[in-house]
Formats: sequence, C-alpha cells, structure tokens
Amino acid sequence: MKPIFLTQFLIEEQRAMGKITPDLRLLLEVVTRACKRISIAVGKGALGGVLGDAGTGNIQGEAQKKLDVISNDILLEANEWGGHLAALASEEMDHPHPIPEQYPKGGYLLLFDPLDGSSNIDVNVSVGTIFSVLRKPEGSSESTEADFLQAGTQQVAAGYCVYGPSTTLVLTIGNGVHQFTLDRELGSFVLTQRDMKIPVDTKEFSINMSNERFWEAPVKRYIDECVAGKDGPRGKDFNMRWVASMVADVHRIITRGGVFMYPLDSKTKDKGGKLRLMYEANPMSFIIEQAGGAATTGRERILDIAPNKLHQRVPVIMGSKNEVDLVTSYHA
Ligand code: AHG
Ligand code: MN
Ligand code: MN
Repeated sequence: MKPIFLTQFLIEEQRAMGKITPDLRLLLEVVTRACKRISIAVGKGALGGVLGDAGTGNIQGEAQKKLDVISNDILLEANEWGGHLAALASEEMDHPHPIPEQYPKGGYLLLFDPLDGSSNIDVNVSVGTIFSVLRKPEGSSESTEADFLQAGTQQVAAGYCVYGPSTTLVLTIGNGVHQFTLDRELGSFVLTQRDMKIPVDTKEFSINMSNERFWEAPVKRYIDECVAGKDGPRGKDFNMRWVASMVADVHRIITRGGVFMYPLDSKTKDKGGKLRLMYEANPMSFIIEQAGGAATTGRERILDIAPNKLHQRVPVIMGSKNEVDLVTSYHA
C-alpha cells in the first residue's frame, strides 16, 4: 500500500471535508515540523548537551529543564512568521507571546506544553509535546490573554507527539483521531492508524499511587476496588502503569484502553489540581473524546470548563468511557 504522508492527509481533509482551512493546514504542518526538531534534540540526549536543568523557573514555580526551554523556543520560532497565528501561549511562558511586528497575523491561537514529562528527560524515558488550536475571537484586534480563555469544546484541532522508541503524532481536527509515525529516514510523518478507538472497558489504571493518602474518598474507593481484583466488587484483576509523562500514559490508553487520573488531592487542592487545563487537560480530553473515551474532573466534563486564567490547573480523569463514568459517578 502506498504510504499516506501527513501533508497528503491534510490536503485531502482540506479538499474533501472542508474540515480545515489552508491556514489551519499550514499551522499543523508547522507545528509538526517543530515536533520533528524537538524529536531530534530529544534523541541526541547527552551527546547534544540537552540534558539537565536550565537553571530557570516557569510561572508555575517549576524548575525548567534545558529541553523545556529548547522545545519552547523551537515551537515559537516555527510559528511566528507563517501569518496563520494571532498569538501563542505556552506552559513555559508567563504571558501570551504576540506575533512580532514584521509578520502578518492570522486567525488562530496556538497553545502548547512544549515538553511534557520533564522528570523523564534525564533518565531516557518517553516525553512528548501537546498542542491545542483555538480560533481568535471575532472583533478583538490585539490579542489578549482573555482571547485564550475559551472552553475546550471550542478547540478546532489538538494533538500530541510522543518521543519514545518511535516518534508518534496523534492528531484530531474534530473528525476522529489519527496516528502518524515519523519515518526517520524520510523525515516525514506517515499515517499508521486512522480513526483510533479506545476500548470502553479496561483492566488497567494509571495514577501516582504515592499520593494515595492525599486523595478524596471517591478516587480512593475506585482504586481500592481495582486493587481488590477478582475478590473485590469489580470481579476482575487490574494492572497498573504510571510513566509520569502524560503523553505516554494517555498514548497507551488510546492504544489499548485504560484510565488515567491526576485527581484532586489535598496537596494540589489550593492550585485546583496538578495538570494544566489549557495545555494538557483540554487537548488530551478533545483527543480522548474523539476516540470514543471520556474525560472529567470527577465532577464535570473537562471540555465544558469555562477557563478563568491561562495557567489554570484542573483534576483529570480520562480514558475508557465506562471506567471514567464509574469514577465520576462515585463523586456524585
Ligand atoms: P510537565 O513535565 O509538562 O510539567 O508535566 C508533567 C505532568 C504529566 O506529564 C505527568 O502525568 C505528571 O506531571 C507527573 O506527575 P508526578 O511526578 O506527580 O507523578
Ligand atoms: Mn506536561
Ligand atoms: Mn511541560
């Protein structure tokens, strides 16, 4: 069978479905080209001098790794000049990044977590990039932070790249979820799975168990019941996986099912949760729902949340639909 390259896939979506505009196609080409550069930087490891701390911190009070900064710079550089964007926002930048004066501005807003799973960089475990695309609201001329504060349901595209044993791109433009694998010889993403679907049931959960004593009762109940296995109320044995890179954990779940949780706990309650709504929870929820899964905070659908600030954090429960529904029902 003839390979379908990302460019061809996007052109066909643009032609046949009218799903994407030429500007959105350019945006997706440019973002994924940036991901290829990040993939190369990640792959060089110690030889590229990319490991270790940057010696700086971000607005969330987290120490930045060199690769957090490098990946952020690569995404900025790639997206500034094309004329498709009104502004960009990143987990690693305090405020939205305007398009420099010398370039034309476009109708889209791009948000990203440039390097997800930073704690895994120095130990050679999978990391990734997550991105989300919104339309710039009509009427406003200069882009402001308020322009970005749109519910996840307003996303026109979302995707992530996993830099693992292979580099994989998973993308939605609102008509299913499609997987591309980077052909390293050609330097091109090739379509390797159309219309990914998450199994509705699972026997696998993904949570940082070291936080157990901080969890709320509904999550504790759900995990206790999974751990009780065959002898417990669920009547089946469960397995546990926690990579500590959301991209890698969610990618496993999209591939073979499971439930991923970073729930509200007493450690992160004051901040609203651990994971970031605009750069992590929203794009991943869009992808998960498009693949037939579900995503909630335990109390509400993530995509329905009206954001109140750019760096807002939320609890996250996502994956196989029946399991997410069950954990959510325990919160009711
Ligand atoms: P980031 O590296 O972008 O800050 O995100 C890390 C996130 C997420 O990828 C992962 O699921 C979680 O933090 C891991 O948290 P713990 O270290 O608390 O397990
Ligand atoms: Mn992250
Ligand atoms: Mn990050």
